[in-house]
Amino acid sequence: MNNHSIYANEELKNWTERSGLLKQEQYLIEKYIRNEGILIEAGTGGGRISLEVHDKYPNIKIVAFDFVEEMIKSAKLKSNEINFEVHDASDLSIYDDNTFDAAIYLQQIVSLVPEEFISCVLKESYRVLKKDGIVIFSFLSYSGRKINLIVSFLVNILRILRKEKWQTQRLPWLKLSNKVNFKFFTKNQATTYWFYEKEIIKILEDIGFTIVETKCDNMIYVVCKK
Ligand SMILES: C[S@@+](CC[C@H](N)C(=O)[O-])C[C@H]1O[C@@H](n2cnc3c(N)ncnc32)[C@H](O)[C@@H]1O
Repeated sequence: MNNHSIYANEELKNWTERSGLLKQEQYLIEKYIRNEGILIEAGTGGGRISLEVHDKYPNIKIVAFDFVEEMIKSAKLKSNEINFEVHDASDLSIYDDNTFDAAIYLQQIVSLVPEEFISCVLKESYRVLKKDGIVIFSFLSYSGRKINLIVSFLVNILRILRKEKWQTQRLPWLKLSNKVNFKFFTKNQATTYWFYEKEIIKILEDIGFTIVETKCDNMIYVVCKK
């Protein structure tokens, strides 16, 4: 199982039926997004965040993409004023360098990416952003979920017994479609990557971003400037 298949199946309804913004999302969007220029949203799902941004800031041209076609089909039914497209965040070669004034990578899209592509996804976000452009990220926080220590220990003991690699911060889904995923400790489960704040800040700075603001609750929110 992989995250593409989870979002095309078990989590499809969950993310196409949502509306409104979370408190942190609203705070960051109101603070950093201006009613002008061109914005890209990565992992838009059913378009929830882009639809809210469009309502609030009708002058912004919005491109919103997701790698699950079914998500984009559902988003397109909600608005024809936003350009909803199917792309993988690791390959935005369809867009030139320095195209966008702002980017939104919320709801932990980067945590869903296989480890070997994380750097590529972040570099693509940097590449397509204009100089002084702003990007709002959120990441799953390893220390923001108390049971991670015990889950990680159990899952990794089983990985070792199966002669697999120990990966402390790469954990299987504990819930799917809002129900407990009892198979979470079995082989070949889809996983998500849970960051430490210092770790992700260093990765972003190494890529070239300037950190403008960070906020941590059970997620790590990071606003960066190119
Ligand atoms: C947690 S959902 C959030 C959906 C939407 N942003 C929202 O907040 O309502 C994460 C979304 O990221 C998408 N996604 C995951 N990995 C992706 C990738 N590599 N490229 C594009 N989309 C991706 C999933 O298909 C899913 O729709």
